[in-house]
Amino acid sequence: MNFDEIIDRRGTHSAKWDMMEKIYGVPADGGLPMWVADMDFRPPACVQGALEEMIGHGLYGYYGDDSGYKAAIRWWLAERHGWTVEDGWIFTTHGLVNGTAVCVDAFSDPGDGVVLMTPVYHAFARVIEAAGRRVVECPLALREGRYEMDFDAWDAQMENSGAKMLVLCSPHNPGGRVWTRAELEGVAAFARRHDLVLVSDEIHHDLLMPGQTHVPMALIEGVEDRLVMMSSTTKTFNIAGAHTGNVIIADEALRARFAKKMAALGLSPNSFGLFMAEAAYSPEGAEWVDALCGYLDGNRKVFDAGIAEIPGLASMPLEATYLSWVDFDGTGMAPAEFAARVEKDAKIAVNHGPTFGKGGESFLRFNIATPRARVAEAVERLQAAFGDLQ
Ligand SMILES: Cc1ncc(COP(=O)(O)O)c(C=O)c1O
Repeated sequence: MNFDEIIDRRGTHSAKWDMMEKIYGVPADGGLPMWVADMDFRPPACVQGALEEMIGHGLYGYYGDDSGYKAAIRWWLAERHGWTVEDGWIFTTHGLVNGTAVCVDAFSDPGDGVVLMTPVYHAFARVIEAAGRRVVECPLALREGRYEMDFDAWDAQMENSGAKMLVLCSPHNPGGRVWTRAELEGVAAFARRHDLVLVSDEIHHDLLMPGQTHVPMALIEGVEDRLVMMSSTTKTFNIAGAHTGNVIIADEALRARFAKKMAALGLSPNSFGLFMAEAAYSPEGAEWVDALCGYLDGNRKVFDAGIAEIPGLASMPLEATYLSWVDFDGTGMAPAEFAARVEKDAKIAVNHGPTFGKGGESFLRFNIATPRARVAEAVERLQAAFGDLQ
């Protein structure tokens, strides 16, 4: 567990490192990729060990008997999140973007609306629109530098919206919020009032800053008959390339609808993802996650302190995730100018705010899950790129 180790990822088909020049014009040589959400850390030894055992055996046939895998999921969700699930509720998808897409297909029809609380993880809108549904954007309210839900405004928007489904991001990407129990109760009531299937993407649920408690939507009363839960090992353990996610549905009728779409698409899991996930959801994996969260908290402090020294920039307080959402509004610059300073002058590749929907215009998203020396380097480069504001 040495999160300070600098590992050269260039030339390894890493989207984060090997695509930054093509997408952002930031050269691989000397550039810092702080965009797509994967970490520059190796997963815990138990995950590596599971793969080595597999490779040592050298046979890669069809996977069968997922009882150990499902037991590991049940253990993790009960131990870390206080939520008891049954094996029969768990579907394994090709990741959670795929899980969202199957939900869109299962729980809405072409032309229907799907509600997103924006700004939010951009791939939701991508799959919703690609499936011929409409995104109904319910903007989060920005109050005192953090996002809050705005049910009164959203209720008015729901009239004639044709919305059938809501995708919640909990904890929130890109705002880093851990929604409180009261906020989640508000979401449940909103879903009931407007008769929406509620899909709760909780992929970031393990990546909590010290003192934060994530409440799974499944522990909120009154949504049992409309709730779809989604989580996975891939974000927590940095194994996104394994493309393995879990969609967990307690309600029998919703489960039958989801199962039908899975069958129609011929979806079945990849054995590499299952082997890694089963190893990850273990006491050794848990110890690694605790250490990781402590390290990310340290990175957050270095990053936030450095950003706070640049007049006009404000990073949102991170309660969860390793994705820092930085507001450049106070610089008075147009988005093209502050983005150019970050990409061309500081040579840092970041996600652009408008990708996440309404409300993201003045923001850039920085991935701080990298060795601390690189976070410090990024801060120095940003301070230099905006040095004229000092
Ligand atoms: C909220 C959210 N959901 C899903 C994903 C991606 O999930 P997957 O790689 O399992 O498709 C991400 C990746 O950043 C995310 O932030």
